Amino acid sequence: MSHPPLAPFVPAEPSNAHAGDPVRWGFIGAGHIALKMARAITAVDGHRITRVGAREATRAQALADEFGGRGGSYEDVYTADDVDVVYINTTHPFHLEQALAAMSAGKAVLVEKPLTLSAEQATRLADAAEAAGVFAMEAMWLRTQPIVREVCKLVGEGEIGDLVSVNADFSVIRDPDPTSRLFDIDNGGGALLDLGVYPAHLVWPLLGRPDSVQVMGTLASTGADHVVAMQWGYETGAFAQLSCTFAGHSPGRAVISGRSGWITIEPHYAKSPEHAVIFSGGKTRTITLPSRGYQHQVEEVGRCLRAGLTQSPLVPLSDTIGVLEVMDCARSELGVRYPQE
Ligand SMILES: NC(=O)c1ccc[n+]([C@@H]2O[C@H](COP(=O)([O-])OP(=O)(O)OC[C@H]3O[C@@H](n4cnc5c(N)ncnc54)[C@H](OP(=O)(O)O)[C@@H]3O)[C@@H](O)[C@H]2O)c1
Repeated sequence: MSHPPLAPFVPAEPSNAHAGDPVRWGFIGAGHIALKMARAITAVDGHRITRVGAREATRAQALADEFGGRGGSYEDVYTADDVDVVYINTTHPFHLEQALAAMSAGKAVLVEKPLTLSAEQATRLADAAEAAGVFAMEAMWLRTQPIVREVCKLVGEGEIGDLVSVNADFSVIRDPDPTSRLFDIDNGGGALLDLGVYPAHLVWPLLGRPDSVQVMGTLASTGADHVVAMQWGYETGAFAQLSCTFAGHSPGRAVISGRSGWITIEPHYAKSPEHAVIFSGGKTRTITLPSRGYQHQVEEVGRCLRAGLTQSPLVPLSDTIGVLEVMDCARSELGVRYPQE
């Protein structure tokens, strides 16, 4: 797969949603995650899908028939005057080019995780969003989950004292099929960018940018990372252990340890978690905050657009870029390089 150089970015007038008006969504891509987000968007008051664009117009129309709006091409979505925010849900190598096209037409963008293949690409996207004055956010829905937000707040308030460590895994077993996007290096394959960004985005708001990173892992025959374990070190002495793999299952537990207590996020911190078990002050308690899956992310986009924000405080682009810098470093250690870099 070859990608031509991207055209220079030319900003247009932003077209953000006004208070009271429904937020009108246009989709770029109509694959697996598009279906799940279409369900979420249409379940939230004040949001509707007005356009769906796909490489094949018939598949775009099929999604539009089920959830609303009109099906067509990507270009139809970029140029539509009834779209406030473009949801880019194609595979990673296409995110930058498509986000630039949407933003140059004055549209806000929600871009699936990972925002882009690399930190350099993410910086270009962030710079273009700033130049255009439009909203841009990575669809890192983990950080919009009520229980994750509450845990970050409690840790910040000193509930468990100074942090000692965070431990988080994310693994799902997948056959190493070279044609699957998960393993195809031309299509952004690899465990780090598919799964590893989740533990990274859990650790980031708790401990921040690591001062050192150690990486070990193995590659699939396609050259994509298959198993990755990372240890992030901090000058304070704190550390984080993060792992991701397509080679087996894991429970998706997050354990946050402090000098005076610990917190676990249950059941799977990256899959609509609802509970936190907290040991603090010598006692253990459980707090529960229900999750409505991707709907919290949809609500956050609506809240930001109506408030005229160009970034979400829950998922700032600086965090996205920081996480991708660590992913770049880990991929470099493992020898994983994408042709589009
Ligand atoms: N937030 C989450 O929980 C979550 C879950 C899964 C995936 N994701 C992210 O969402 C993105 C899409 O994942 P997915 O599982 O939905 O993938 P997918 O169904 O395999 O592909 C999504 C769309 O990407 C485009 N595409 C795929 N391969 C392509 C190729 N070789 N050339 C050109 N276009 C191609 C197609 O767009 P058209 O429809 O236009 O043909 C396809 O429908 C990824 O970046 C992934 O990391 C997020």
